Amino acid sequence: MYIMHSQVINRDLSIAVLRYFVKQRREEIAAGAIRRIRKPRPVLPTAAAAAATQPPANAEPAPAAAPEQPALASTSAGVEEASAAAAESAQAPCTSGRVPAADDGALDPDIRILEGLAASGLRSIRYALEIDGVKRIDANDLDEKAAAAVRSNLEYNDPKASGLVRPTQGDVRLMALQNPDGYEAVDLDPYGSPAQFLDSAVQAVSEGGLLLVTATDMAVLCGNNGEACWAKYGSYPLHKPYCHEQALRIVLACIEAHANRYKRHIVPVLSLSIDFYVRIFVRVYTSPEKVKESAMKQMYVYQSSGCDSFYTQRVARKHVNKRSTKYSPGTGPAVPQSCPETGSGFQMGGPMWAGPIHDPAWIQGLLDSIEEDKERYAAFGKIKGLLTSASEELQDAPLYYNLHAVCKTLHVTPPSGDTVRSALINAGYRVSGTHANPLGLKTDAPPEVFWDVMRCWVQEHPTKKAPDLETYAGKLLAKPPQLKASFARARGATSAAKTAKVARFVPNPEAFWGPKPKAGRPQRVMQVMGGQKEEATARAATSAEAGAADNAAGDADAAEEPLPAVQNGVNGAAVNKDDKHVDVVMAGADEAPRTS
Ligand SMILES: C[S@@+](CC[C@H](N)C(=O)[O-])C[C@H]1O[C@@H](n2cnc3c(N)ncnc32)[C@H](O)[C@@H]1O
Repeated sequence: MYIMHSQVINRDLSIAVLRYFVKQRREEIAAGAIRRIRKPRPVLPTAAAAAATQPPANAEPAPAAAPEQPALASTSAGVEEASAAAAESAQAPCTSGRVPAADDGALDPDIRILEGLAASGLRSIRYALEIDGVKRIDANDLDEKAAAAVRSNLEYNDPKASGLVRPTQGDVRLMALQNPDGYEAVDLDPYGSPAQFLDSAVQAVSEGGLLLVTATDMAVLCGNNGEACWAKYGSYPLHKPYCHEQALRIVLACIEAHANRYKRHIVPVLSLSIDFYVRIFVRVYTSPEKVKESAMKQMYVYQSSGCDSFYTQRVARKHVNKRSTKYSPGTGPAVPQSCPETGSGFQMGGPMWAGPIHDPAWIQGLLDSIEEDKERYAAFGKIKGLLTSASEELQDAPLYYNLHAVCKTLHVTPPSGDTVRSALINAGYRVSGTHANPLGLKTDAPPEVFWDVMRCWVQEHPTKKAPDLETYAGKLLAKPPQLKASFARARGATSAAKTAKVARFVPNPEAFWGPKPKAGRPQRVMQVMGGQKEEATARAATSAEAGAADNAAGDADAAEEPLPAVQNGVNGAAVNKDDKHVDVVMAGADEAPRTS
């Protein structure tokens, strides 16, 4: 049985986004919409270069020069030539450093990718084989065994991959700092938090380039450990039902803050909360003018301690008149001392990203492009569902209510989502769902209107026993509604995708689903066999067999994939016997697919 796992979704999604990015970027170059940065940031010399140019103790200090590295393919046509260069470089000790300066000419439509935390290189190899218009991929990992695994996996796969992928070993931060504006795409896919890699990564992305970021420390981002979130991301999280979108907004704000230090800013094109992690795609631009607007794109959240009401407040404002543009602090507080619904206090979260988290035009383009090539993506259904629900989200209504949580607060049985949405639309407000939660409801209606709708619904569907007036439910329901809600079915109350029967929330397989421990740690696996639960301790089949890094999550995941290469599928990648495209072949990886 084919088992989809988390990394397949992450990689499929990233491939889809990168393919679309290459296409978009080509059009932008042709239209002159991307400009070259005139003043590149200073280049940090490599350790080798610094040592080579070490002056005598009494000499004047001289700037260190970066050593030239072998040139790799500049287009897919140059693959053979580059294969030789790559083979040569593979023999040499594998260290990171400044990559060839030969690219510093006119804007090239082909892209250079840095996969800074590459583990086994599986992702880089897929990028090489499945994305057209890639000039070079630097597959870097700190771990020596990981770099060796990338080399052996390259040998085992299509030569096209060896021509494009350059394995390097070193700290991604150093690699990024040594290559300012050096990559059109920088992919950060760490275990846990990406926070420590962001400062260097935003400098390594070329003008208009794409930064791809994973964060798996959801407990931190969702408010279980506020002080850790503050320390890592500079934002205080709230442990509330909208926490998955909050996670996206905290990471976005953190990337923006790092970019701002270098006169850069971000434009999110797609930000997704997927199962147990977030995956964010932002474009990075340089503009001191836009950087001035950054505080306006951040907000604080005031969360009622007694109910689900939340209010947002931007950190800064902009005043434009005929003669000048001025910036000033945000006015507030946006809330009174106590919650108008329950009389309780407020908690304050943030600052976090307040602007749009996606570009709807991008999502539509992506949807069209994956539809054209659906056989390429093993995770097609899941990705289409995610993109479809993200495409319908209100972009100017941050965060959301969870209808079940709201009804838990009120101690009532939940109405259907469409019923509540209809009442809000009939009251003159906009609504949408959210990809982050099937029960989530986004609206531009203020909390008092939302609660009035709920009060009207409870009046029409009274509970057997009225709640105690001292409880929050009692206080909420005791307030007479100011509006008379109409629950007549409103146009737009049902998601367009739901009407078109597009599955927006595709369930995951149950067995073996979820994050894996770092390779090397024992993994407790519940195997369901013949109706009996048998608890087994399994080791992720990774490095030892595959020659991959001991600490490579990708490897742990690779062992979950059905790998036998019975025939070559799309771009020479392995296919399973159901002819589903799965992933590239891993050298010596566990060939026995697990069953569920
Ligand atoms: C989750 S894995 C990467 C999975 C990979 N992107 C994939 O798709 O298969 C994280 C990797 O980051 C590497 N790593 C951790 N810190 C690093 C650093 N400072 N520089 C480079 N690599 C690092 C680890 O060795 C590990 O292999």
